[in-house]
Amino acid sequence: MTIKNVEYGLEKIFKGAQDFLPLLGTDYVEFYVGNAKQSAHYYKTAFGFQSFAYKGLETGCKDYASYVLKQDKIRLVLTTPLHSNSPINDHLKKHGDGVKVIALWVEDATKAWEETTKRGAKSFMKPTVEKDEEGAVLRSGIHTYGDVVHIFVERKNYKGCFLPGYRKWASDYNPTSVGLKFIDHMVGNVGWGEMNQWVKWYEDVMGFVNFLSFDDKQIHTEYSALMSKVMSNGNGRIKFPINEPAKAAKKSQIEEYLDFYESPGAQHIAVATDDIIETVKQLKARGVEFLPAPPKAYYEDIPNRLGEHMKIMHEDIGALRSLSILVDADEEGYLLQIFTKPVEDRPTLFFEIIQRMGAKGFGAGNFKALFESIEREQENRGTL
Ligand code: FE2
Repeated sequence: MTIKNVEYGLEKIFKGAQDFLPLLGTDYVEFYVGNAKQSAHYYKTAFGFQSFAYKGLETGCKDYASYVLKQDKIRLVLTTPLHSNSPINDHLKKHGDGVKVIALWVEDATKAWEETTKRGAKSFMKPTVEKDEEGAVLRSGIHTYGDVVHIFVERKNYKGCFLPGYRKWASDYNPTSVGLKFIDHMVGNVGWGEMNQWVKWYEDVMGFVNFLSFDDKQIHTEYSALMSKVMSNGNGRIKFPINEPAKAAKKSQIEEYLDFYESPGAQHIAVATDDIIETVKQLKARGVEFLPAPPKAYYEDIPNRLGEHMKIMHEDIGALRSLSILVDADEEGYLLQIFTKPVEDRPTLFFEIIQRMGAKGFGAGNFKALFESIEREQENRGTL
């Protein structure tokens, strides 16, 4: 089988290759948090997620509570332990709130586990069937960087709302969606000198390819630097950039993350919207904090940077500037993006909002403006 993906040009790289791990998409992202009830309220109120499913004492789960939130294709699971002897506490003590599971939707979770473990993945969960009156879900899992795991979810024989053991969560409090559609990419921060080892891991164990790379000559400011390689699966639906810190005059934002998360982990979740101006207006009105705006000169330079793509750009530069939205372009089009401040007190996980208008990149043209903005925040925190 030749894997086709004209969109990302991946068909050339994958030509003749067997996709031993076909992925249908992101299934869910699970966070371990200190207080899932309050986190759920935050993601509903601030980010426009909807109540979707619940598991806890009321459903017979005595060890932990999990709230599932949904917005279009995105599902977040927020899990909190109910007793001090839960192993989830070890994760919370070390990392604070953070991403534990990046779950991937597959046709065959047994085969996914067999293919990845035989290529060297460390098993997290052997293929396991969970059932209720709505059918059966088969899940399996492997460890990746830090304490993060990938769980493979096979749900073709299940009609229930989320997973067996969960019940539908109906709430009287239903803030409207802000237009977030799906997860565009999820970025992992790994330790000094570890990027290439994880790139190789995603190639060997999961059959991904490295389709974009940025070195510290491209990603640096006067003070700090990082390196990044973007990994993609065969159909381009799953994209995992991997970052490592690089040496510079002051502390890399990746190093700051590693100091506070106390290990490698998920750095940001990029979520797609069709109308970033409306989405960001809503998010700001609901209290989501974004990185401060780049200087005025950044916006004055947009026509230069976009060149030909200015003809198809219909967003007003003044509106982008007033919301601090960033713009970048590649040969195929442009993209609009903006980054939140970390959503925990530790400067660790944050979100990116992205609208792609043909561009397939990750905003490399914005790295300098973005990192200068992050450095101002690091300066405020005394961690630069
Ligand atoms: Fe990103």
